[in-house]
Amino acid sequence: MLQPLSPASASAIRTFLTESGFTEQEFRSRPNLRELSPTTRAFLLDYTREPSRFNVLLRLLLFTVEVDKTLVEELIPAEILAPLRESGVLSVNGDQIRPEVMLTPLANFWFAADPMTCIHEPEVVLWANQTTRIVDLFSIRAQVGATLDLGSGCGVLSVMAAGHSGTVVATDLNPRAEAFTRFNASLNGVSNIECFTGDTYETVKGRAFDLILANPPFFVTPTSSQLFCENSMALDGYCRRVVREGAPMLAEGGYMMMTLEWVQQKGQPWQERLAEWLDGAGCDAWILRAYTRDPGAYAQERLKNEMLEDAASTRRKFENWAAYYREQNVEQICGGMMILRRRSGESWLRVEDLTIDVSEPVGDLVERVFANQTVLSAHPSDEELIALRPRLGPECRLDQKLRQAGGKWEPASLDLTMTRGLPGLLSVEWPVAQFLASCDGSRTLGELIAGIVATVRAPEAAVRSQCCAVVRKLAERRFLAL
Ligand SMILES: C[S@@+](CC[C@H](N)C(=O)[O-])C[C@H]1O[C@@H](n2cnc3c(N)ncnc32)[C@H](O)[C@@H]1O
Repeated sequence: MLQPLSPASASAIRTFLTESGFTEQEFRSRPNLRELSPTTRAFLLDYTREPSRFNVLLRLLLFTVEVDKTLVEELIPAEILAPLRESGVLSVNGDQIRPEVMLTPLANFWFAADPMTCIHEPEVVLWANQTTRIVDLFSIRAQVGATLDLGSGCGVLSVMAAGHSGTVVATDLNPRAEAFTRFNASLNGVSNIECFTGDTYETVKGRAFDLILANPPFFVTPTSSQLFCENSMALDGYCRRVVREGAPMLAEGGYMMMTLEWVQQKGQPWQERLAEWLDGAGCDAWILRAYTRDPGAYAQERLKNEMLEDAASTRRKFENWAAYYREQNVEQICGGMMILRRRSGESWLRVEDLTIDVSEPVGDLVERVFANQTVLSAHPSDEELIALRPRLGPECRLDQKLRQAGGKWEPASLDLTMTRGLPGLLSVEWPVAQFLASCDGSRTLGELIAGIVATVRAPEAAVRSQCCAVVRKLAERRFLAL
């Protein structure tokens, strides 16, 4: 079991790792290190065969293979090696140094987790992966009082949120997760994380949170052999539970961001199923559906890593899963994100199909979605809307394409796009583009409409209804802030 590091040792290790290039930035600059998986292992060991400090660190900490003790002692100073051994990151095995955990850099942090070779163990504590990143990148970055990291694993989301939270509570059913989170908090010099072991919200009963981050074990499978991705409730029942029990724990204005999967059963559109989860929750909700699979394709995808291990048992497992989906009348399995914000008054629910492979923080755009949707719900008529001062987001750009015609260039298309964050593309007409340019937040929509009426001499009612329709559509699609 890992032991936390002292602040002085942790600081020395961070400096050493940075100076040795064991950083996300350095890894990103090396295409060979981008895809780390059991299938690339042989190649990566060959890639790191030269006995340099960087290669030894990669082999020990990332690929978790034993390295000759003399070589390690030559390349890693004793004041770094000693705390890594005392804390349980490394151990000595005869004339070899043996890694006990895997260490990966992420942003300006480092996280210990179980080695990748443990992926099939029931209580594996997972390293940061794409779903972890997504929750972090969608998270609001505003300073908050209390944050809950539900199902904290090795504590990545806790450490990432610690900088903008008064306190972070990390809780996980897996007792091994708590030790990893404590260690990772110490390694990264973070002291405002409380760690607990328990089922779902059991350890935080009666507390209120401004932010809940959850990347729960959401796989829709009939098995529950892997704690990090499976659960013992039928179909998507565990995600429903996380939502229903989590919503009342949010403070007014508090956000919950979670990854999830859900099913569509015969006879009920999936939107209705999710609406039922949220019924009476007291939260606005934005659901992003990133993918939809038919049950067979879903099972095949989830079992693809096991295919490498044992084809016959994987085939039996596939058949059991397929039979389960049939018995449960599952037509589709969908996945994505659900974002809730607690708010008194009548709640709204917005559902959107969106690719969510974001690569930079989009918390400000999430806040814009919630602000816009709330304003739109509160201003349903054009008369109410024209009092608002719409503002085009600073990340919007207008792209014009031209095509050759009759020996000259003529306009082919005009598209409004988002230059960062969430995907966005909308074709517009030139008058709409001109109108949008005037939306700078300084004038009310009513004033902007009056200006257009004066120049185009069109009927005021027609201009108003068109402008209001444009503002509604663009505010819903995040191009405009209201
Ligand atoms: C997909 S992992 C996420 C880990 C980490 N938060 C991340 O994003 O990388 C899901 C985590 O939920 C934990 N978990 C599973 N069932 C749980 C339960 N009933 N209550 C609390 N945590 C649970 C698992 O042990 C695992 O650490």
